[in-house]
Amino acid sequence: MRIISISAVKGGVGKTTITFNYGEWLSSQGYNVLLIDTDHQCSLSQTYNLFTNEETIYNAFVNKDVNIHQIHQNLSIIPASPMLDELEVELSKKHNKDLLLMMWLEDNVDRIKDFDFILIDCHPDFQTVTRNAIAVSHYIISPIEPSQYGYMSKSLLLERLENFRDEVIDARTRETYISALPYFIGNRIRHNTKSSREFSDKISQDKGTIAMIPEKELFNRSTLDGIPLVQMEKDKDVAKTNKAFFEKLNSAFEQITEKVSE
Ligand SMILES: Nc1ncnc2c1ncn2[C@@H]1O[C@H](COP(=O)(O)OP(=O)(O)O)[C@@H](O)[C@H]1O
Ligand SMILES: [Mg+2]
Repeated sequence: MRIISISAVKGGVGKTTITFNYGEWLSSQGYNVLLIDTDHQCSLSQTYNLFTNEETIYNAFVNKDVNIHQIHQNLSIIPASPMLDELEVELSKKHNKDLLLMMWLEDNVDRIKDFDFILIDCHPDFQTVTRNAIAVSHYIISPIEPSQYGYMSKSLLLERLENFRDEVIDARTRETYISALPYFIGNRIRHNTKSSREFSDKISQDKGTIAMIPEKELFNRSTLDGIPLVQMEKDKDVAKTNKAFFEKLNSAFEQITEKVSE
């Protein structure tokens, strides 16, 4: 099993869109996938029409029951709660507050052991709930936009991860609990202007960048309608009109999968 946090310090960079479409793509490849929405904005949950405050991932932090919703044969989701952001204050005095999700996964190993991939969609921050997600992850996948801001948020994430590694250590062995490897993917890649080309080139040559995803209006449609691109591609007309795009997208997803399977 691989656990991957889709995380960035910046909002609107494609975390939810990628979690949804990559998760569905993995499931179409025959992998059994669990999505976990840890963003109190609940966008991923809403993509699956889950507007609920019952037995969400919130409960994993307060020792109550969590419901795993099966969407289809190879894909399940634990929805988020709008109350997740209140945990910041509620947990502030708790020891081990960054390792609560780790403990929940251990306590619930029988329910999750059959998943090949767990993808965790994060809120754009590095606070308690996100730190919990990162603490259980083998990998962090962080979308970056081809711009100066994209660059800044990349170094910010790396810096915070480094500090987090130093903070969460076993007092006796001094070893860190945090083993997540950070990888970046360029998102919303356009090739129509000089500056976007320059930034894409710069990003793609960076160490740690493992894939590039093109800018495409279809992404918007997919989350709005709750229809993943891998499903849209089954429509022969859509596949034909967008042949080059689907080739790029599928090879990006293959590259990511190769990296996180190492
Ligand atoms: N590759 C892309 N091409 C076009 N639009 C995209 C792409 N990736 C994301 N978007 C759009 O950008 C907006 C923000 O994406 P979202 O996944 O909600 O970001 P985040 O979860 O990081 O806040 C959405 O409207 C989404 O449809
Ligand atoms: Mg989001």
